[in-house]
Amino acid sequence: MTANAVSTRSDEALILLTDEEQGLYEIESPMVQAVIYIPRSLPHWFEELAEAVRKGEFRVPRTVIPRASRDEIDAWLENNLPTSTHTSTDLRSLVKTDILTLVDHVGMISGATRFMLRILTAAPNTECGFHVDTVPPGANPWGLLRVYTGAGTEFVDPANVTSMADFYRYLSRRERLTRERRVASDDGDKNSCELLQREMEQLDSERTFLRRPNDIQVAPAGSITVFKHLDVSLHWSNHAKSMAWIHSSPMAGDTRFLVNLSPDEPPHFRSRRGRGATAH
Ligand SMILES: [Fe+2]
Repeated sequence: MTANAVSTRSDEALILLTDEEQGLYEIESPMVQAVIYIPRSLPHWFEELAEAVRKGEFRVPRTVIPRASRDEIDAWLENNLPTSTHTSTDLRSLVKTDILTLVDHVGMISGATRFMLRILTAAPNTECGFHVDTVPPGANPWGLLRVYTGAGTEFVDPANVTSMADFYRYLSRRERLTRERRVASDDGDKNSCELLQREMEQLDSERTFLRRPNDIQVAPAGSITVFKHLDVSLHWSNHAKSMAWIHSSPMAGDTRFLVNLSPDEPPHFRSRRGRGATAH
C-alpha cells in the first residue's frame, strides 16, 4: 500500500483507501476494517450503464446465488443480465466480464473456488440506516462490494465512532423504528407512519454514536470495497471496531446497480493466507 493509502486509524481499526487494485488483498489483516479501491478512471461504459439503469432499461431483480463456481456465475450472468438496452455498447458482456473479474479477486485473495453472489438493481430507500453486515459463526469474515451506478455507500471513520456500545444503541432504536413503520404501513396508519418517519430522520441526523455527526465519508460508484463482516454471535456486543465496517446505503438518488461477492466454501476450508478467515 502506498503511504497515502492509510485513511483512518483508531483502536487498531483501519480503513484503507487505495488507487491500486492489489490493495484489496489487505483485507485479511486483522486490523483492517475495509479497503476501498478507487480506480483513477472508470471505463467509458460506466456512464452508459448508469444511464441505462436510470431509465430502467438495465434491470436485475434482487438475486442471491450461494455456493457457485466461477463457471456457474458466468452462466447465470450470461442467461440473466439484460440483453436489450438502447445503448451502442454491449453492456451485458462488459458487465459480465467485470463481475467475473471481481470473482477472480475474491478467489485470489481467499483461495476459494465457491462464491456467494448477490446482485440487484434497486432504488434507494430509508429501510436501513448505518449498520454492519453479519455472517453465521465461522463463516468467511469479509466480502466484496461494487456499486456500479447511483450514489455511493456511506461509511464512518472508526476514530469518529465513540464506541460500539453507542453504535448498537443507535442501531437497536433504528431497527425498532423500521419495524414499527412497517407495521403502521401495513395497517394503513398514515399518521403513525409520518411520526415514525420523522423520528427516524432525527435519529439518522443526530448520529449519537459519532463524535462528529456530520463527518460521513462515501465510497463512490465505481469503487470496489472489501470489508469485514461480523460473526453474528458478536452482534450487539462491545467488540473491536476492526471487526465490522459501519456503513449505510444512500437513502435518496438514482437507482443503484450493485454486486456483493464473498467466498462460500464448506466449513473445513481455510483462507489461503491462513489468517483466520474461515469460510462457510
Ligand atoms: Fe450492508
